[in-house]
Amino acid sequence: MATLFKNIKELIQVRTEPVSFVSGTAMNELPTIKNAFLVVENGLIADFGSMDLCPTTNFTEVIDATGKMVLPTWCDSHTHIVYAGNREGEFVDRINGLSYEEIANNGGGILNSAKKLQATSEEDLYNQSRARLEEIIQLGTGAVEIKSGYGLTEEAELKMLRVIKRLKENYDISIKATFLGAHAVPSEYKNNKEGYLQLLINDVIPKVAAEKLAEYIDIFCETGYFSVADTELILEAGKKYGLIPKIHVNQFTAIGGVEAGVKFNALSVDHLEVMNPEDIVALQNTSTMPVALPSCSYFLSIPYTPARKIIDAGLPLALATDYNPGSTPSGNMNFVVSTACIKMKMTPEEAINAATINGAYAMGLESEVGTITKGKLANLILTKPINSYGFIPYSFGANQIDKVFIKGKEVD
Ligand code: NIG
Ligand code: FE
Repeated sequence: MATLFKNIKELIQVRTEPVSFVSGTAMNELPTIKNAFLVVENGLIADFGSMDLCPTTNFTEVIDATGKMVLPTWCDSHTHIVYAGNREGEFVDRINGLSYEEIANNGGGILNSAKKLQATSEEDLYNQSRARLEEIIQLGTGAVEIKSGYGLTEEAELKMLRVIKRLKENYDISIKATFLGAHAVPSEYKNNKEGYLQLLINDVIPKVAAEKLAEYIDIFCETGYFSVADTELILEAGKKYGLIPKIHVNQFTAIGGVEAGVKFNALSVDHLEVMNPEDIVALQNTSTMPVALPSCSYFLSIPYTPARKIIDAGLPLALATDYNPGSTPSGNMNFVVSTACIKMKMTPEEAINAATINGAYAMGLESEVGTITKGKLANLILTKPINSYGFIPYSFGANQIDKVFIKGKEVD
């Protein structure tokens, strides 16, 4: 079973030597081969190179990519696609002048989603989430991280994580699960945040670990949600069970969460719309990936993560969607890449690196996806005929994807 892609106008993100992630000025380098071929065998990238060297063996399938480009599928390292219903009402409330914070204080926000999710059966939740997963695969995503955090009771958090597990079993794309029990203090614990944290630490985290329901642990470290001390408490508890931190920090206020993440060897620190110079220094010479979520900034009209400051300080940066019902009801990585270029002044090369290899690193999948490298999964985007890869972010809001392949199989 071998498939040949021939006459590829440009094969993008080609790495013969494996890289874990790219940072600083290296983010502006995007290696490509013009007029290329690529061979897929048993779901993996088996070979690639210039058309002059194209093999002539009999292939099961030959795809003529004349005028089209091939790149690795997007790696979306931060989503909340398992949720129930939507929050369209709050969208209109915000148009009419209420802030995200005011809506949350009136019982909306995360607590509103939790109420809906608690009342939804596991089967129904699976079906709603499956539709979102299929939607993002068609938009070119080939690896995704999914968080819990809209359950906020032991039963509902485990229900979310079991839905993620079922998605992992039933779909070919790489999926990683994150336990985000500390997303908000549930109303039953309104004046007893400590009690909720103890429930997570003593009851829920051990069950998540025993059932192997998550690889990562997350917390919303933010004024009005969870403090830096709460963050350290939860990360410490997760660490005992081998759960690696990937945390929500610096979305609205900078309270020292980045430093706490680094201290606990977080794989990633995500959001970072508000960054102090100390936060940038804290990330230097560490293995923690900063992750920006520009669709969230767009939807909430909040500042964009200062990508230039981060990259110009020599750091790496990954891009993800944050697909969720409250702050980012969109899982479109093409829009994320465009918005990063338009609003965050990232070059197309930086944005594509951030949305592929750096995103892969931010979910521990850098040896599986994120580049065109022999032995990696053949998770590929075949574009429509385009003149340059810069046209992908340039033509914002349009879809330049012709076909998506996951493990070498074309997605219907
Ligand atoms: O990443 N910031 C915290 N959590 C989500 C949004 C939560 C919600 O509004 O439902 C986020 O933006
Ligand atoms: Fe998020």
